[in-house]
Amino acid sequence: MNDSVFLRACRGESVSHLPVWFMRQAGRSLPEYRKLREGVPMLESCFRPDLAVEITLQPVRRYGVDAAIFFSDIVVPLKAIGVDLDIVPGTGPVVAEPIRSGGQLAQLRDIEPADVDPIVESVKSLVGELGATPLIGFAGAPFTLASYLIEGGPSKDHRLTKQLMYSNPELWHALLSRLAAIGGQFLRVQIEAGASAIQLFDSWAGNLSLADYDTYVKPHSAAVLASVADLGVPRIHFGVGTGELLQSMGDAGADVVGVDWRVSLDVAAKRVGGGRVLQGNLDPTAVFAPTDVMTAKAAEVIEAGRAAPGHIFNLGHGVLPATDPDALARLVDFVHGYELSPS
Ligand code: CP3
Repeated sequence: MNDSVFLRACRGESVSHLPVWFMRQAGRSLPEYRKLREGVPMLESCFRPDLAVEITLQPVRRYGVDAAIFFSDIVVPLKAIGVDLDIVPGTGPVVAEPIRSGGQLAQLRDIEPADVDPIVESVKSLVGELGATPLIGFAGAPFTLASYLIEGGPSKDHRLTKQLMYSNPELWHALLSRLAAIGGQFLRVQIEAGASAIQLFDSWAGNLSLADYDTYVKPHSAAVLASVADLGVPRIHFGVGTGELLQSMGDAGADVVGVDWRVSLDVAAKRVGGGRVLQGNLDPTAVFAPTDVMTAKAAEVIEAGRAAPGHIFNLGHGVLPATDPDALARLVDFVHGYELSPS
């Protein structure tokens, strides 16, 4: 397992073929997923080991990807400690009582082992089922989680989030510190149960200027990544629209930096530096193009990725629900068959 192509690439070691996995590889694009989820609410499925295990395995079986990502959600640890929230189909996480005051932080307590029994059970069972295929655990980064807790749901402009950040920095930092602690604990739980890598999703950090990211967010994401450093597994740090933040996100303590499709990987490699490996970054809509166009674009991604000390192929963000699974299967075959000639 430690010698798997995915883990070797995370460490910047030589690989026999380019590893590939997809963010949101499990989910609505798969008919077998939609069938299994029929009548079961999203969050319930995350806390049911029978479903979480099977859903995690579905894309591994179908595509032969080089890593599995644990079927869960960034709000699962918050639900586990009793925060009143739900995942509304077609909308995303919705929080019953959005955070407006310091008094509300008390609910953001540390994770107790009993809160995450089903998560530990799922991860342990998955590691057995997956054999030599590594499992990636994940958590939401403090900023992205805070945005849901403050806005009460998804937001385009993150107006209320930034309002709190600018007007009450003390409460802001207290909130993000709590979320960093919980995120770190949730990652530790998954790693100790057998996950061989983790990804910290700061999906919405790209809405911040570099200066604001560095002041208000980076120290907290760095705390999450540092809190699992002792466990020695590769740490991937990803966000959308983070072209201007890439160096900072790497400096926050990542081993691998995830890049969305807006920045070519050769440019990203210069920005990230520090010997860090890159992950990404085919436009998720490229899989809707004719196969020859899709594979030409994938080849461009692979060639640009050679500028980095290592490269893990992925999309620039999650698989879109309307994606044709056969197109993804062709993409995996193309990446696996790509001749990595010496540079
Ligand atoms: O395959 C995988 O990548 C693992 C599963 C996964 C899910 N959520 C399952 C899910 C992962 C890694 C996440 C992380 C997550 N959740 C993020 C960060 C990743 C990203 O996409 O940027 C964010 C921002 C969330 C919050 C969230 N949860 C959103 C925005 C949504 C989509 C809402 C919708 O219906 O369009 C969810 C729900 C969700 N999480 C689904 C899945 C498969 C869809 C719900 C369903 O199938 O009913």
